[in-house]
Amino acid sequence: MGEKPRILVIGSINMDVVLKAEKFPAPGETVLGTDLSLIPGGKGANQAVALSRLGASSSLLGRVGADPWGEELAGKLSENGVDTENVAAVDSLPTGNATIIVDQEGENRIVLIAGANDALLPEDVDLALAGKAAWDAILLQLEIPLETVCHAISAGAARGIPVILDAGPPVKLSLEKLRGVTVLSPNESETEALTGIRPDGLESASRAAALLEKSTGAREVVLKLGDRGALCRIDGHWKLIEAHRVEVVDTTAAGDSFTAALAIEYTRKTGIKEAARRAIAAGALAVTRLGAQPSLPTAEEVDRLLERAG
Ligand code: RIB
Repeated sequence: MGEKPRILVIGSINMDVVLKAEKFPAPGETVLGTDLSLIPGGKGANQAVALSRLGASSSLLGRVGADPWGEELAGKLSENGVDTENVAAVDSLPTGNATIIVDQEGENRIVLIAGANDALLPEDVDLALAGKAAWDAILLQLEIPLETVCHAISAGAARGIPVILDAGPPVKLSLEKLRGVTVLSPNESETEALTGIRPDGLESASRAAALLEKSTGAREVVLKLGDRGALCRIDGHWKLIEAHRVEVVDTTAAGDSFTAALAIEYTRKTGIKEAARRAIAAGALAVTRLGAQPSLPTAEEVDRLLERAG
């Protein structure tokens, strides 16, 4: 493998409508917001941009609508060094859209309209993989049709390409469908959706991770545990690697930043402990800034945070 891992992201592209408010409205309540911004997002696009900023050669297979948002989002991907040869506009559906409320603690609530992301089909995966490019890894999330995700897992496995799955957003599905995945990384709510186990302590998190490992055959399972850090198997034991203490502005895309760093280090064969340390640092930096793509850190920023942390 050359210096830069070549990673194909197969995933969603959204325009995020970000609303800031002191608190989330309760059912039936109206609250006053303080800000509204349109910010490029979508888990697939965020991870593709994060890969590029973190030093990978990144390409995205995805769909937008034939509308101004679609054009703008594709342009932003290119500006960020992401190869968009496999990003196409569909006529029948609008660009994907996420309305995100961010409260003063930096927590978010999201309503997602998949739009054109739903038009990404298994045959599109075959076409992308039939091209000349050789991939060091495929990176997936669950914001496109599940059959496309499952097809990409088997297509990657059949070609011997490591497949990394960020299991967001939370989806209840049979773990059998994920057989063939190489690295599986859900956050707390995604872990609960997949296993029925809430990973709120070391014992329950280890139990959930072991179940995911056994049921999917994944070589690495890395649970993102927010401000507690991440859990992975080191020398045969499930271990918690602690998070950094940072000022939280907005947690949106922290998981995307984490998984992109994890994917790069996995392809570089850094070792899972070091890969998780870098992923935690990349996730931590993303929570210190508002929005999805503007918050994603560079490799140098991750280096600096890890140096400061010692
Ligand atoms: O992971 C964050 C992303 O989830 C946001 O950018 C939003 O588009 C939703 O898809």
